[in-house]
Amino acid sequence: MNKIVFATGNKDKMAEIREIMDDLGFEVSSMKEEGIESDPEENGASFEENALIKARAVHEICVEKGIEAIVLSDDSGLEIDCLNKEPGIMSARYLGRDTSYEEKNRNLIERTDATGDPERTARFVCAVAAVFPDGTEKVVRGTIEGTVAHTPSGNHGFGYDPIFYVPEFGCTTADLSNEEKNRVSHRGNALRMMKEILNEIKK
Ligand code: IMP
Repeated sequence: MNKIVFATGNKDKMAEIREIMDDLGFEVSSMKEEGIESDPEENGASFEENALIKARAVHEICVEKGIEAIVLSDDSGLEIDCLNKEPGIMSARYLGRDTSYEEKNRNLIERTDATGDPERTARFVCAVAAVFPDGTEKVVRGTIEGTVAHTPSGNHGFGYDPIFYVPEFGCTTADLSNEEKNRVSHRGNALRMMKEILNEIKK
C-alpha cells in the first residue's frame, strides 16, 4: 500500500489530513509515528517554497531510513491586500512568535483601518507540497477569500481566524465550527487538490 508521511508536528493538521485522505486507500502516517524529527529553516520566498523545504527535508530522512513514502507538507498564512500582502509568509512570526494572537489581530485591524481602504480584502493561503519516493515534486495552492473584520469575533479555530471575515457566510472563520471551516478552508482546498493528484497516481 502507498504510504503518505505528513511533515508536521501539529496534531490538528494530522487529524484534518487523515479525515480528507481517508478514502484514498493510502496509509497516512505522522512524522512522530515514523520516528522522524525535522524542523528546517523556512527561508523560502513563498508559501510554495517553504512547503517544499519542509517536504524535502523529511523526504531525505525517509530515504536514509529506507521508508518508501510520499511526503506531504503545508505552509500557510494570511495575506492582507492593503498591507502589501502582510503578514504573508511571516504569519506565524509576525510581531514575534511569542506575541499573543489577540495582540497580532488588534495590530492588523489598526493597520488596516489606518489605510482607509474600504474593501479590506484578504485571503488565507495554503501551499501543499508533495515529494515522491523518486524525488519528483508537486505543489498546489488553496485559498479562501475574505476581508479584515472591524472587530475580532468567534472562539473557534486559531491564529487570525477571529479577524478573517467571510462575506459569503456573514461571519469570521472563528465563528464557524471546525467541520464547517475545513469544508471551505485554504488548507482543506489545497489538501483536496493534492488528493486528486494522488488519486491519478494510483490508477
Ligand atoms: P504554518 O502553516 O503552520 O506555518 O502556519 C502559518 C501561520 O499562518 C499560523 O501560525 C497562523 O498564524 C496563520 N494561519 C494559517 N492558517 C490559518 C487559519 O486557518 N486560521 C488562522 N490563522 C492561520
